[in-house]
Amino acid sequence: AEERKVDSNNKNEQLEQFRVNDQGQKMTTNQGLKVSEDEFSLKAGERGPTLMEDFHFREKMTHFDHERIPERVVHARGFAAHGEFQVYDSMKEYTKAKFLQDPSVKTPVFVRFSTVAGSRGSAETVRDVRGFATKFYTEEGNYDLVGNNIPVFFIQDAIKFPDLIHAVKPEPHNEMPQAASAHDTFWDFVANNQESAHMIMWHLSDRAIPRSFRMMEGFGVHTFRFVNDQGKAHFVKFHWKPVLGVHSLVWDEAQKISGKDPDFLRRDLWESIEMGNFPEYELGVQLLAEEDEFNFDFDILDPTKIWPEEDIPVKIIGKMTLNRNVDNVFAETEQVAFHPGHVVPGIDFSNDPLLQGRLFSYTDTQLIRLGGPNFHELPINRPVCPFHNNQRDGYGRQTINVGQVSYHKNSLAGNAPAPATEAEGGYVHYQEKVEGRKIRSRSESFKDHFSQAALFWNSMSQVEKEHIIQAFSFELGKVKSLSVRQEIVDMFAHVNVELAAAFAVQIGATPPKEGGSSVTKTSPALSQENTIKMPNT
Ligand code: HEM
Repeated sequence: AEERKVDSNNKNEQLEQFRVNDQGQKMTTNQGLKVSEDEFSLKAGERGPTLMEDFHFREKMTHFDHERIPERVVHARGFAAHGEFQVYDSMKEYTKAKFLQDPSVKTPVFVRFSTVAGSRGSAETVRDVRGFATKFYTEEGNYDLVGNNIPVFFIQDAIKFPDLIHAVKPEPHNEMPQAASAHDTFWDFVANNQESAHMIMWHLSDRAIPRSFRMMEGFGVHTFRFVNDQGKAHFVKFHWKPVLGVHSLVWDEAQKISGKDPDFLRRDLWESIEMGNFPEYELGVQLLAEEDEFNFDFDILDPTKIWPEEDIPVKIIGKMTLNRNVDNVFAETEQVAFHPGHVVPGIDFSNDPLLQGRLFSYTDTQLIRLGGPNFHELPINRPVCPFHNNQRDGYGRQTINVGQVSYHKNSLAGNAPAPATEAEGGYVHYQEKVEGRKIRSRSESFKDHFSQAALFWNSMSQVEKEHIIQAFSFELGKVKSLSVRQEIVDMFAHVNVELAAAFAVQIGATPPKEGGSSVTKTSPALSQENTIKMPNT
């Protein structure tokens, strides 16, 4: 029987097998041949051409020529650290996930923080969403919680993601700007895809210029499922709460820091960990019984909506501590492959149409980014428990699978799937009953784009409101098209007329007419006080 128990050191021990220290070692070729010279290529005579037979020169140059891999299509600029996670109390009532049962178990984690739009070398304190991706190396396999620091998203359906990113990224004709939202295509997309209104309010708030990765919340965004050992399911939303609290830069600081130290956020994380000042985050969950699925005036499958914390409080269930920097950024931070589809028994998906598309996209992109189908064998991606199946071969295969059998079903190897019993632990998908016609539409409430955006605005303090107005003015001030500027004014009049009027005058647009807010849709279940408790405020 294989040992599947892990503790917080196991990932580190596993990585140790792959670490190579060149210090004090004599130089060799990749074949182990000691070389006597590494400054002069082999030539025919003192003044002659370089010889083809100079295998040392060829090997060194060829390897260098192939050093770069494609950067991530989004979230290219990122920084990561190792750590551990411990649950406070058993979550057995809600989920059978083993790493959420026993408070004494420390599960190793690897966390990568990122910006979304900029390229791999871009500045870190720009206005942007931040990625917050966590890989839990559990005894049941890797579980990835691939989240952001903002709890909602720009779009509702994955089929729009390529369009969103084409609009957000630097414009194709001149590859400017690195900043996500200070250009025409971003705002043209927003005006034409108004489901983005709620996310835009967060994006133009101080949340999009965090002071530190240590002071940032994380959100799973989508509705997921917890399933317990009785097969009973709850809907769940995930939250990371930084123990240091949420803190942001002000815009003037963010811009100056971008120039003085484009590495500001990674330096802050790296130095804190080096000093033993370990970043900590508590894991929170909002839990919703299946029978309460339709008790809201929004659809819980809509990723542009939060679950109000007054109605569904965040239950804090555990703590993550980041306590070790990487040894090598390429080997670990660049080669790590997160995927929202990496789940363990007790955690399952919902039918959120954004999540459903993500389940396809990540492996697909990693097949090209990491050069073929064997990137699960890279040290940072290996689970700490063993993995066995009939997949074979492919570029860069490292595992030496012994024996004759690489097919199912067989009698020769006895390597059948594990039954779904508690003892055996085979994964089964939650047996949700689904039926319907094949259609390209969603429930009516997906069309309510402004209620929660308005509640967000109403929940802001005066200073926060001023920052948002300044952010609209600055970002739209970079937009050349006057018609796009006007469309945005008209769109955000649906969120709040004073807001739209305040930035309209800053960008040379026509302010909306008084009373324009009458078109704002209100959300009956949420509108009692017309404010909403935002996460950690
Ligand atoms: C990275 C696709 C929505 C969080 C990526 C990558 C792709 C992608 C292709 C690059 C992965 C890689 O090269 O390893 C999509 C699609 C989405 C979507 C198609 C919507 C349909 C989201 C949402 C979130 C999110 C809603 C947050 C909840 C992240 C994070 C990363 C990432 C954190 C960086 C992971 C890392 O650090 O390596 N996404 N994404 N994405 N995505 Fe998404």
